[in-house]
Amino acid sequence: NKTPLRVLITGAAGQIAYSLIPLIAKGEVFGQNQEIILHLLDIQPMLGVLNGVNMEISDCAFPLLRNVVPTASVEEAFKDIDYAFLVGAMPRREGMERKDLLKANVKIFKEQGGALDKYAKKDVRVLVVGNPANTNALICSKFAPSIPKENITAMTRLDQNRGMAQIADHIKTRVQDVRKLVIWGNHSNTQFPDTRFVEVSKDGNWVAVANVQHDAKWLKESLIPIVQKRGAEVIAARKLSSAMSAAQAAADHMKDWFHGTKKDEWVSMAVVSKGEYGVPEGLVFSFPVTVANKQWKIVPDLALDEFAREKIKITTTELEEERTEASAATAE
Ligand code: NAI
Repeated sequence: NKTPLRVLITGAAGQIAYSLIPLIAKGEVFGQNQEIILHLLDIQPMLGVLNGVNMEISDCAFPLLRNVVPTASVEEAFKDIDYAFLVGAMPRREGMERKDLLKANVKIFKEQGGALDKYAKKDVRVLVVGNPANTNALICSKFAPSIPKENITAMTRLDQNRGMAQIADHIKTRVQDVRKLVIWGNHSNTQFPDTRFVEVSKDGNWVAVANVQHDAKWLKESLIPIVQKRGAEVIAARKLSSAMSAAQAAADHMKDWFHGTKKDEWVSMAVVSKGEYGVPEGLVFSFPVTVANKQWKIVPDLALDEFAREKIKITTTELEEERTEASAATAE
């Protein structure tokens, strides 16, 4: 009886979309009672592949899926959408740095920001996955002035999930018994996975990680490069970038935005800064947030020690540089 939600996935012929489509169509994101109309955008040369994906979607016979709109038309793709997963971008290959990609990709997000502004519902909620995700979201928002800046976010949930899984493994517990790992900053190797607030469920109570058996140096220092370099490690092994785990993280991000976070749970989302924690206004920066009524709220008043302040400064500087480069690229 509910009106179906129009959900856009860009890069729909790509590998992340291939894992993400079934999660959405099975109700893992918007719930088991919510019908979906999937808008699938890819570029013209990929329409043949997209048609194949669409055949498989049909063959899955998803009960919640009311309709599919596969298209290379930006207008048709963005028309009246409620939610958007902006995945489509030029992916990073082995040995390629993110900065090489910035120029090409911000142009895509300038165009898609314009399309959001013109065609999407005004309360559309957007998750940018395509890299450089934070700066793509910033550019998208800049060219979508009629959409609230709060509604355009970028994904650092994969980093959070990676970190939580590593911590659970390290302290020999289940991943659902770990919470409050914070990812600060950019989805890049300057990100700061901050374990100072991590809590672990022990005999039914949540306790600070300091109170359970662990290696303090590993937790404070070693985990950081493990999470920062995990993406590159997957590329080296798979010869393709993370896709199954990226799709799962995108589903987790949107699910929490849609349904809200659990009591006393934080999730990391890259959202527009209003100056919180000294981060310059307007940067799209990963913060710990809680979500209620489809609105995120940055967790306030967390103490930052010198180590954290230094790490946050590094990732902030990188995002400011990206903003400058992106502005120049979109002005060309
Ligand atoms: P892929 O190369 O398999 O698929 C990308 C798809 O996007 C291709 O089908 C391509 O034709 C399409 N595309 C390119 N330009 C487009 C445009 N203007 N409009 C619509 N579609 C367009 O790449 P994959 O593995 O699916 O990754 C997609 C992006 O996600 C990459 O930028 C990757 O770096 C990023 N990523 C981000 C993560 C995060 O944590 N934020 C994690 C993993 C990947």
